[in-house]
Amino acid sequence: MEQMKVLLNDDEMPRQWYNILADLPTPMRPPLHPGTGKPVTAEDLAPIFPMNLIEQEVSAERWIDIPDEVLQKYLIWRPTPLYRARNFEKLLNAPVKIYYKMEGNSPAGSHKPNTAIPQAYYNKAFGIKRISTETGAGQWGSALSMACQMFGLECRVFMVRVSYEQKPYRRMMMQTWGAECIPSPSTVTEAGRQVLAEHPDSPGSLGIAISEAIEDAVSRDESRYALGSVLNHVVLHQTIVGLEAQAQLKKIGVYPDVVMGCAGGGSNFAGISMPFVRDKIHGKKVRIVGAEPTSCPTMTRGPFAYDFGDLAKKTPLLPMYTLGHDYVPAPIHAGGLRYHGMAPIVSHLVHENLVEARAYHQLETFDAGVKWARTEGFIPAPETDHVIAAVVDEARRAKEEGKERVILFNWSGHGLVDMASYEAYFAGKLTPHELPDEEIQRALKAIEGFPKP
Ligand SMILES: Cc1ncc(COP(=O)(O)O)c(C=O)c1O
Repeated sequence: MEQMKVLLNDDEMPRQWYNILADLPTPMRPPLHPGTGKPVTAEDLAPIFPMNLIEQEVSAERWIDIPDEVLQKYLIWRPTPLYRARNFEKLLNAPVKIYYKMEGNSPAGSHKPNTAIPQAYYNKAFGIKRISTETGAGQWGSALSMACQMFGLECRVFMVRVSYEQKPYRRMMMQTWGAECIPSPSTVTEAGRQVLAEHPDSPGSLGIAISEAIEDAVSRDESRYALGSVLNHVVLHQTIVGLEAQAQLKKIGVYPDVVMGCAGGGSNFAGISMPFVRDKIHGKKVRIVGAEPTSCPTMTRGPFAYDFGDLAKKTPLLPMYTLGHDYVPAPIHAGGLRYHGMAPIVSHLVHENLVEARAYHQLETFDAGVKWARTEGFIPAPETDHVIAAVVDEARRAKEEGKERVILFNWSGHGLVDMASYEAYFAGKLTPHELPDEEIQRALKAIEGFPKP
């Protein structure tokens, strides 16, 4: 029998997260205070995040211990299996070996609990009673709802309206885990009311929902905001994926030529790839490739610039690839990839040519996802379909070049509550949306005059 998966025992699960900031060849630009133009201080962030997470956000320690309470919760589904996609390989008929890290087997169905659990834990440890957040596809919102329930915190989730309507089951999952889920833009915040006044039919965006969640958190006592991607501490928590993958590949004596992930805010991609970026910085030959949608082509077509993380300009100015904070991406079905910016860590690495990016449109991604389901069985989330499209592309290149490749990628989540999007695909209702140049130029007007990185 051919080996299909590599497992780790509970006692082989990593006990520390890896922080790439300790190994960067060139330092990252700091986030800036929009008023003063100076680097933000811990005090500036204190109304939004608890201080223990702010410390992690700016830490330069290479290894950060995972608290026992977090390890204990991780053990519910971690370590996750590393699979070899032998059936998909046969279908592709290319000189590639494909390994994937199964992050769809968490209780919430994606990689998001890897950071939801530590974020709930650190908030609780700091004395916080309530967390507000936003969610695109509903994966993050459901992960945080579950984590808040585990640590006895209240949770309110602003869900991008188009996803709220497309994905009622995610809302019900949040409810089941005890959270409140509100479609965004909503009338419960000033930020939401402003958008609705101008665009009553707004489909919403992550940028708008973030504004609402921050406003909701900072206007109450003992309440903080949590972000499911983009920030350094989120990337840090997700590195458990890449560290496990390294340990698993080591067991079978394999090292990848290419490491891939889909990229919305960048956290699952960064999570699997940071330990390999570290190797690359130290001389190892490995390519790191992020896959994004052509309708929200942040890394492939946006500039590297300072921009806000949200529409209402409540966040600091972050140094990142961006399409402009008021860009509202087309309502494609991969809701978790509809974010105008990209994690500053990932952006920095793209800028330094340590990481590459490619963009794929909806029809290629669903085509790849359906092929995957019909060979490997597991039905991927529409976000995950993007990295599968990138794997198909990589296999095609390998075939054309006649060169063998070992591919490792992050299977970020299952699509079992996203079946309406597959239905739309089968019914021929999806279009291969590409963002026109004029639209990018228009959206980038929003950052004219901002400090340049
Ligand atoms: C299954 C899945 N994959 C990927 C993403 C994209 O997020 P990130 O880039 O932070 O990993 C999401 C976001 O909701 C998701 O639900």
